Amino acid sequence: MTQARHFLGLDEFEPAYLRRLLEAGWVLKRAGRPARPAEGPLAGRTLMLLFEKPSTRTRVSFEVAMRQLGGDVIVLNASDSQLGRGETPADTARVLSRYVDAIMLRATRHASLEALAQHATVPVINGLTDETHPCQLMADIMTFEEHRGPISGKTVAWLGDGNNVAASWVQAAAQLGFRLRLGMPEGVTISERALGFARRKGAAVELCHTAEKAVAGADCLVTDTWVSMGDEPGKNLACFEPFRVTAGLMAQAAPGAIFMHCLPAKRGQEVTDEVIDSPASVVWDEAENRVHAQKAVLLHCLAPAALP
Ligand code: CP
Ligand code: NVA
Repeated sequence: MTQARHFLGLDEFEPAYLRRLLEAGWVLKRAGRPARPAEGPLAGRTLMLLFEKPSTRTRVSFEVAMRQLGGDVIVLNASDSQLGRGETPADTARVLSRYVDAIMLRATRHASLEALAQHATVPVINGLTDETHPCQLMADIMTFEEHRGPISGKTVAWLGDGNNVAASWVQAAAQLGFRLRLGMPEGVTISERALGFARRKGAAVELCHTAEKAVAGADCLVTDTWVSMGDEPGKNLACFEPFRVTAGLMAQAAPGAIFMHCLPAKRGQEVTDEVIDSPASVVWDEAENRVHAQKAVLLHCLAPAALP
């Protein structure tokens, strides 16, 4: 129906193209802040940022990225819009496509993102859904490689819940050729769609039901909140306790292993202060790299010829 250049999930691209976007992120990071953004490659273009859930990093990093490329943004919280009163994502897509050049959606339900993308005639970007968070993973891969070199062949240990960020790590492992150990309590599930993709690709993704098994010799420990936005209230958190990232767990990883977290962190729950504030923690670089990775995503969507 539409030929728009969306960015919906890491499983929708050829690995070589994802690699190209990551390299572009690096060039854009090295270029710093442009002196004359008004003449940038996205001058005259407008990005809509549409949120059905709260955000700090996604909102600010997209806004900064778009402005530094010369473009403009409009931010709308769904609760302040007709989407919040039941207008369908399809109708919203048809209307917004007449106003703006691209739409980033943070959606409560992944199906809303798919409906928006299906009916928009402009590119749609996944700014997190209940299933995946691909923009986060572009920044995360950049960050891993900044500190530990090429991720291909390395081992990453995910600890905690099998949430949207975990699913995108699974897809990234399948696309970029690294080993992923999922340290999750028995009974906690992770996206079957992501696991199926990894299986079809022959990826080295392993489920581990003890934290010790997951982290042994790993190059990176990564975690996220045990309670994602939209999780049911009263979720049983006791089962996650053994998967908290502590200094003791970090000591069982490879020498020089790094700690990553997409943030926001619930300090003292999924990670101790000691770890997140330690020299092994690269979470602030990770947050910064959202800007650089998303500049590459924006150029992919709106000005592919300008990708460095
Ligand atoms: N990591 C991330 O997406 O953070 P926000 O929820 O603040 O956007
Ligand atoms: N898993 C978290 C990520 C927040 C950026 C959530 O969905 O709330």
